[in-house]
Amino acid sequence: MSETLSTTITVRVPAKINIHLGVGPLRPDGFHELRTVFHAIDLFDVITARPAEGLSLTVHGPESAGLPADATNLAWRAAALLAAHAGIEAAVDLTVDKSIPIAAGLAGGSADAAGALLACNRLWGVNLRPGELADLATQLGSDVTFALHGRTALGAGRGEQLQDVEQTQPLHWVVVAADGGLSTPEVYRELDRQRAEGRALAPIGSPAAALAAIRRGDPTALRPHLGNDLEPAAIALAPYLCNTLAAGHDLGALAGIVSGSGPTCVFLTSTSEHAVRLADALQASGSCRFARAVCGGVAAAEVTS
Ligand code: C5P
Repeated sequence: MSETLSTTITVRVPAKINIHLGVGPLRPDGFHELRTVFHAIDLFDVITARPAEGLSLTVHGPESAGLPADATNLAWRAAALLAAHAGIEAAVDLTVDKSIPIAAGLAGGSADAAGALLACNRLWGVNLRPGELADLATQLGSDVTFALHGRTALGAGRGEQLQDVEQTQPLHWVVVAADGGLSTPEVYRELDRQRAEGRALAPIGSPAAALAAIRRGDPTALRPHLGNDLEPAAIALAPYLCNTLAAGHDLGALAGIVSGSGPTCVFLTSTSEHAVRLADALQASGSCRFARAVCGGVAAAEVTS
């Protein structure tokens, strides 16, 4: 019993939002060239790895409904990829405790993949260096690398080329989850359609002003510089997002934006107290499934026990 307990590895992994998401042209490999500001928030999934024979996965927690616990799950794929890379058998019992909504634009699946990589790396004594883990992360998905990086980072390429952004103060946000999900590829395809038909808005352009405000920890300066090229595509597929954004605005958010490919919306606030007040007001308005005050710029996936 005590031996089993001592070899249980627990990893906590944050969700991400994109403060600025500039989407370039579609590349020949099916991905879009990005220039984005990733921001880790204190909404966490917890991944546990225990020694086992073979690979198994259990999912539970408040946001686990509908999540497959099989080889299609990114956490499972991460464990299998690490084992293949190390030339060992994938022998682990993984548990994912989900608090990050699924298909929400918060990179919850990527968080679980990053957590499984870190947990199995420790459990199996593989001891890959951070750069090697980042290479495996990139093979699993465009956002997995950032889940291992955390804090705030400027992303390029598919989103896997990261440059740290110095942030002197935390930023405070409200995350508003919707009832359903949106498929990331479908949202990108809708943007491509809008662009091909000349219906797309002008690209949001450079993140320089947003980065300067983040470095100063100044939410008021950041306010006019939130941007997301995917937002009109997400709204076209989920028109109710207009109401969600309007509700946040009417209840006093500094600014609001669709997170990543949506349908989660995030609202910038001036202080942690402002975030708690806005989250309470949004929750009471009945305009969303849940509204939660979060802090942005938190640390990456980490082994907690
Ligand atoms: O990398 P990931 O598996 O998370 O990407 C899911 C889908 O999102 C891709 O198959 C692609 O359709 C779209 N995507 C994209 N450009 C990116 C990242 C994702 O077109 N930079």
